[in-house]
Amino acid sequence: MPFTRKAYRAAILHSIADPAEVGIEASYEYFEDGLLVVENGQISAIGHATELLSTLPADIEITHYQDALITPGLIDTHIHLPQTGMVGAYGEQLLDWLNTYTFPCESQFADKAHADEVADIFIKELLRNGTTTALVFGSVHPQSVNSFFEAAQQLDLRMIAGKVMMDRNAPDYLTDTAESSYVESKALIERWHGKGRLHYAVTPRFAPTSTPEQLTLAGQLLGEYPDLYMQTHISENLKEVEWVKELFPERKGYLDVYDHYQLLGERSVFAHGVHLCDDECARLAETGSAIAFCPTSNFFLGSGLFNLPMAEKHKLNVGLGTDVGGGTSFSLLQTLNEAYKVMQLQGARLSPFKSLYLATLGGARALRLEDKIGTLHPGTDADFLVLDYNATPLLSYRLKQANNIAETLFVLMTLGDDRTVLQTYAAGTLVHQR
Ligand code: GUN
Ligand code: ZN
Repeated sequence: MPFTRKAYRAAILHSIADPAEVGIEASYEYFEDGLLVVENGQISAIGHATELLSTLPADIEITHYQDALITPGLIDTHIHLPQTGMVGAYGEQLLDWLNTYTFPCESQFADKAHADEVADIFIKELLRNGTTTALVFGSVHPQSVNSFFEAAQQLDLRMIAGKVMMDRNAPDYLTDTAESSYVESKALIERWHGKGRLHYAVTPRFAPTSTPEQLTLAGQLLGEYPDLYMQTHISENLKEVEWVKELFPERKGYLDVYDHYQLLGERSVFAHGVHLCDDECARLAETGSAIAFCPTSNFFLGSGLFNLPMAEKHKLNVGLGTDVGGGTSFSLLQTLNEAYKVMQLQGARLSPFKSLYLATLGGARALRLEDKIGTLHPGTDADFLVLDYNATPLLSYRLKQANNIAETLFVLMTLGDDRTVLQTYAAGTLVHQR
């Protein structure tokens, strides 16, 4: 590969720490007239344009943006590829929603051509919304993961995905067996895990749809390969929580089911966690597990309000999830708009810098990838966005009234969506242009 070096000049902002730990002012770096230098797909320098330019060769290629903000690519820690075609399904809460809409929709992935088509739509949608890394649920069919990784590999994206494991309490046309889920997951791990920027996640759907045998084998897989991820759902809906207690009466509670089968750990991400208790948060934190906070989904499915302050009290890793198709938007900006309201309804605040943290570095930490993504530090992957202050007439007018980067950032998260993302870069390559 020939050596390449390019520079991007604009306002630049990135989160460098959790505001809950260091305070807001120490949690970010902002360069009003900044320069980001990219060499061979990685960031090599970031700083004030005037200072950095004097250190660079005079003929370096510079792209200069007016009225724009460069940020790290956004990180979606929970989303479902095979639910792309069912966003906004009317009227049901979790368990009925799964039976009425989700399972029939996911069954279409038995057809590889369908899986290919949706994987293409899904990845374009991620990139249009500025999401450069996602932790993705496939369907029960291995080809859902093959289609997704094939498409992600072509663009050299950093992505994590897994085939759903579910061997009970779902229609026959959509269940595997403990044994087949193990064998199929293993084949996908061998094929994809660690290939380029791709990683595999062992993916038991949730406790009600796995037998104890299947959960045992999921735990076994995690022990067989280094750095595998585990993703599942937990304590999203009160009826679901009750059902888990009926199915696993010998366990202390929902989290204890996963704990018993050795599914907690530093690369384990649990979606929702709306109804977790204090002890469960403590156990998640102790094991280094993470929660994906999915506000649009928790509103849409009537699941409840995630208690972010409780998670912060336990120093629990939290990332942000769109949870499409329970969630209603691929946009993590819109997801933050809803996250803010979740906090308002609990008498709490979500500062724009905490929001930025959740969508970038917080997500990266939840995925143990903070040395590679989530910030614009030199040495990390050049996955970044150019956000357009003039994306819509209202945004443009509103941002002219903003007095500082805190206000600008908050308005971007309130009014912003896919239209705000002018460009998305992955490993230094332009992968989306509005
Ligand atoms: N719990 C089990 N499966 C699902 C799913 O597909 N979406 C959501 N939101 N929750 C789940
Ligand atoms: Zn989900």
